[in-house]
Amino acid sequence: MCIANQKGGVGKTTTAVNLSVALARHGLKVLVIDLDPQGNASTGLGVDHHAGVPSIYDVLINGQSIVEVAVTSAASPNLRCTPATIDLAGAEIELVSVVARESRLRKAVAAYDSPVDYVLIDCPPSLGLLTVNALVAAAEVLIPIQCEYYALEGLGQLLSSIELVTAHLNEALRVTTVLLTMYDARTRLADQVAGEIREHFGDTVLRAVVPRSVRVSEAPGFGQSVVTYDPTSRGARSYLAAAAELAERGAHGFGPTSTDTGDQAPAGVGVDHSAATDSAATDSAATDSAATDSAATDSGAASRH
Ligand SMILES: Nc1ncnc2c1ncn2[C@@H]1O[C@H](COP(=O)(O)OP(=O)(O)OP(=O)(O)O)[C@@H](O)[C@H]1O
Ligand SMILES: [Mg+2]
Repeated sequence: MCIANQKGGVGKTTTAVNLSVALARHGLKVLVIDLDPQGNASTGLGVDHHAGVPSIYDVLINGQSIVEVAVTSAASPNLRCTPATIDLAGAEIELVSVVARESRLRKAVAAYDSPVDYVLIDCPPSLGLLTVNALVAAAEVLIPIQCEYYALEGLGQLLSSIELVTAHLNEALRVTTVLLTMYDARTRLADQVAGEIREHFGDTVLRAVVPRSVRVSEAPGFGQSVVTYDPTSRGARSYLAAAAELAERGAHGFGPTSTDTGDQAPAGVGVDHSAATDSAATDSAATDSAATDSAATDSGAASRH
């Protein structure tokens, strides 16, 4: 599953990090591919990504395998990450002259023969060759959308890139998931935007909504996800709920590997009882966004401040 939106700062990396930790902590095997030269997903998973560390750059450009560069995250023994270093900044240009430049990542993922239930790819904020590689490698796209005024602007461009990839390079690709991020319960605008997005994308939109929360933004400073940093916070609970929804929908396959193990996925997740019960409540409340408002504000007041 590739996590994409060419708009910067909408929560792609935060989503990749937190969903992966949530899924892994429920016993699923997860691989995160950090495909952004900024290396933020590597940071969030506590994985070293200084220049010179074997990284996804070596996979794309030097033909190394994912197994050779993947590192286990401190967050869970089930969670591995292929780090991105600053070298990757040059890959966008270097790839131009490489044979089968759009499908380098797809080939590497297909060759990854460790058991894995989910592969999450964190894309950079652009629609260049790195993102195209992610779209060609994936079966599904998850689009995080920030609940703010310009949220829908630029989405058309993303969707037409996805259509192009589907038409020419990866027939199987589908936008299966939209996640509303940085929802600010205090603003009417967030509500309106959330409503518009639900109208436009229907059931693709997860019921769980990620609130704007300081805890979420603090966690990467500790090389952690908010799910590990503050598991009972609203942000953590929303990501746990989102992960449970994903798992319920089933692992829709990511190349041959996850088709093999996909059946186990729904059984494996879901039910960390303390968090899941809470978040189920937040969840159903979240369907009605007016209710989220008060739910989010209330629980914020009770648990955090
Ligand atoms: N729910 C949230 N509440 C508060 N802050 C958040 C939340 N989600 C993300 N952030 C913060 O917003 C910033 C952008 O988030 P993130 O890095 O996940 O976005 P991104 O789409 O990956 O950005 P880029 O396009 O630069 O890769 C980060 O500082 C992150 O900590
Ligand atoms: Mg990012």
